[in-house]
Amino acid sequence: MARQLKFGFVLHGVGAGWGDWRHPAAVTDASVNFGFYKEQAQLAEQGRFDFLFVADSVHITPRSSPHYLNRFEPLTILSALAGATSYIGLVATVTASYSEPFTVARQFASLDHISNGRAGWNVVTSWLDGSARNYSKPTHYEHDVRYALAKEHLSVVQGLWDSWEDDALVRDKETGVFFDPKKLHRLDHKGDFFSVEGPLNISRSRQGQPVIFQAGASEDGKQFAATQADAIFFHADTLEEAQAYYRDVKARVAAAGRNPDEVHLLPGIRPIVGRTAEEAERKYEESASLVPIENAIAALARPFNDHDFSAYPLDAPFPDLGDLGRNSQQSASDRIKQVSKDKGWTLREVALWHARPKRTFVGTAEQVADEIQRWFENGGADGFNFFEALPNTSLKDFVALVVPLLQARGIYRTQYGQGTLRDNLDLPVPVNRYVEVEETAEEEATACSF
Ligand SMILES: Cc1cc2nc3c(=O)[nH]c(=O)nc-3n(C[C@H](O)[C@H](O)[C@H](O)COP(=O)(O)O)c2cc1C
Repeated sequence: MARQLKFGFVLHGVGAGWGDWRHPAAVTDASVNFGFYKEQAQLAEQGRFDFLFVADSVHITPRSSPHYLNRFEPLTILSALAGATSYIGLVATVTASYSEPFTVARQFASLDHISNGRAGWNVVTSWLDGSARNYSKPTHYEHDVRYALAKEHLSVVQGLWDSWEDDALVRDKETGVFFDPKKLHRLDHKGDFFSVEGPLNISRSRQGQPVIFQAGASEDGKQFAATQADAIFFHADTLEEAQAYYRDVKARVAAAGRNPDEVHLLPGIRPIVGRTAEEAERKYEESASLVPIENAIAALARPFNDHDFSAYPLDAPFPDLGDLGRNSQQSASDRIKQVSKDKGWTLREVALWHARPKRTFVGTAEQVADEIQRWFENGGADGFNFFEALPNTSLKDFVALVVPLLQARGIYRTQYGQGTLRDNLDLPVPVNRYVEVEETAEEEATACSF
């Protein structure tokens, strides 16, 4: 079958910004409203999306945006949505910096069983240093330490996921044999950050292991994503920018000895669809108006560890921030500094550029479908991670107007297959590492006997 677009939908309650909740169509308590999420999940499934994605962080201040202030924990809401959907993948963000691998392995394996093979883990490292204070740690880990820790954390989780071989649980009532002890494996991990014996107290699901998502964009981040992730989120304003990231990361994937076709690169987009170009433009203006300058300044603070920009004059050149942001969201803060320098923008211009929706993917359904196809067929994306630009309306428009066009062009599925997340993403089921070792040993023994 021809290569197909992959689509994620971001469940983001009242929206990404500070003003979205005031939009006439917004449901003001959406971030903690199960009925709202259920409706969105079922609509995304109707639109044949590959997965639902729930972002997360573990520290707020009174300056955080409404969605961050009061929202569901990702694994909890996705476990509930597993019962309200059948095919769509369920991707939860959990930070490696502030969690224990045994707990994480167990939670995702549980979601994977509950959903019959639809779980995915977005492995993040957390950039807000207040996170440390919520997890009994005196200080936040440095950027490079966070990635070293995440690498070890993930390898422990994946090791635990293979504790049980797929045919280990015999459950034979006649003989009384519940499991075959030869097929249950202890990890016995001792590393720099974690010491975990295992085995895990839950088996693999029918997709083998949950799918790994990542979104690193710094050097360390890209390397981690390219060596470990099955799907990678990134930001790009233009096709050229997307192509540069795509080339870079696919080359790193190949250099790591992995198949680049089995690692999907998914830029975030915020499509705005109108029945006419004028209607799309009107909606774009409406969406931009949800981000007044004071909210844009608050949004700008986030990649800089919630830095207070209110002290700087809005219409003076963007301030020299030195190393600020390097231990937070490194790639995003570096990019903001670079763009402000290249364009010679003021603080106001930088904040509005950063926080307001971009004009890419704004237009009639034909125009939006054309742009999606252009990125997909020109080395910019394997699919997209869809954020709503207008609360509670963008997904409806997209499913009704753009999805049928993409399907008619043969680049987007019309039906789901087996309904695991791996199947949606055309990813193979990983062989259990202990079986792989046994198979290799058998092959070698056979080869020797000739
Ligand atoms: C689409 C997308 C979604 C992300 N979701 C989260 C998230 O939910 N929680 C989080 O802490 N970071 C999230 N990130 C940020 C990344 O995990 C990462 O911290 C960020 O890209 C900075 O990477 P760097 O430290 O390598 O510069 C997301 C990034 C992108 C592009």
